[in-house]
Amino acid sequence: MSQTNEAQTNSRRLFLKGALSTAAVAATATAGNVFASSNTAMTGIIYTKENPGKWAKKVGGHLPSIKLDGNKVTIETDHGMSKKHFIVRHTIVSEQGEVLGEKTFTPDDEAISHYTLPANYKGKLYATSFCNKHDFWLAETNV
Ligand SMILES: [Fe+2]
Repeated sequence: MSQTNEAQTNSRRLFLKGALSTAAVAATATAGNVFASSNTAMTGIIYTKENPGKWAKKVGGHLPSIKLDGNKVTIETDHGMSKKHFIVRHTIVSEQGEVLGEKTFTPDDEAISHYTLPANYKGKLYATSFCNKHDFWLAETNV
């Protein structure tokens, strides 16, 4: 191996080592807490009531509400629906990060979705709501 190739290989190894260290830190930070709503590292990516970032004036119309009735869940986003500006999608996600339900909307729909939890589900439940203009919002509750 020439000195140039060896230097490139060592440089690549160092880069990969650094990248893997970063990935390990990220994985550790999220273990056991799939979406930390107060996690400021998610600023500008995931908007929450506690961390609405640049959309601080948009919380009321974008934060999904979670209503529980036994094992039935209703997610609603109090947002208008028009062709230019609407809620695109809801999901509910378990504490372990499993997507338990999802609903994609058209501008003709209402931003309401209904789900049934797995039998005896206990733990945190996350709801997401995505607006085509005001990004990705997250709310959570305990079941
Ligand atoms: Fe919006």
